[in-house]
Amino acid sequence: MTTARQYDTFSTDYRWLYTDHTLSGKMALDINGDVLALADPKASILDCSCGIGTLAIALAKLEYEVNGSDGSPGMVDQAILAARQAEISFPLKCCVWANLSDHFAKHFDLIFCLGNSIGHVRNKEEMVQSLRGMRHVLRDHGKLVIESINWEQIRKEKTRFTHF
Ligand SMILES: C[S@@+](CC[C@H](N)C(=O)[O-])C[C@H]1O[C@@H](n2cnc3c(N)ncnc32)[C@H](O)[C@@H]1O
Repeated sequence: MTTARQYDTFSTDYRWLYTDHTLSGKMALDINGDVLALADPKASILDCSCGIGTLAIALAKLEYEVNGSDGSPGMVDQAILAARQAEISFPLKCCVWANLSDHFAKHFDLIFCLGNSIGHVRNKEEMVQSLRGMRHVLRDHGKLVIESINWEQIRKEKTRFTHF
């Protein structure tokens, strides 16, 4: 079973891992405020590990031209549900990074791959295929933002809780 598929098993409970602040997408918007400040207000953005739709929905509310994708059908279902509840509509597709160009014909100005999702690739070959897949749907001089969390460092610093 692929990692993305493993997310199916807890997709309906995934939201409980997050605080309301994180679920609102505001944290991801804040963290990526510098990249968004440089982007065109109508930039086309792909969240290629959209999970339950947190960031994509927040971006859609700001009227960016948003698309979302994730390798887990269960997570995409939850994202579709959350978008419907927020009365927001934008394309949400189920696909792994290596196959993005099979699902998206366009080239995006900005692609996000957040939440340490990239840490799920299992080997060097899969990493290269995944990064190539993202590059294929990124326009020339577009930006790809990959969040890679250094848990060893965080554990060393003994950061256990983050409060807002
Ligand atoms: C830790 S979650 C992060 C989700 C979201 N970005 C967030 O911050 O809430 C990792 C996500 O990456 C997705 N994922 C893992 N491997 C993937 C792949 N090869 N292609 C597409 N999505 C993948 C999983 O299905 C899961 O939704």
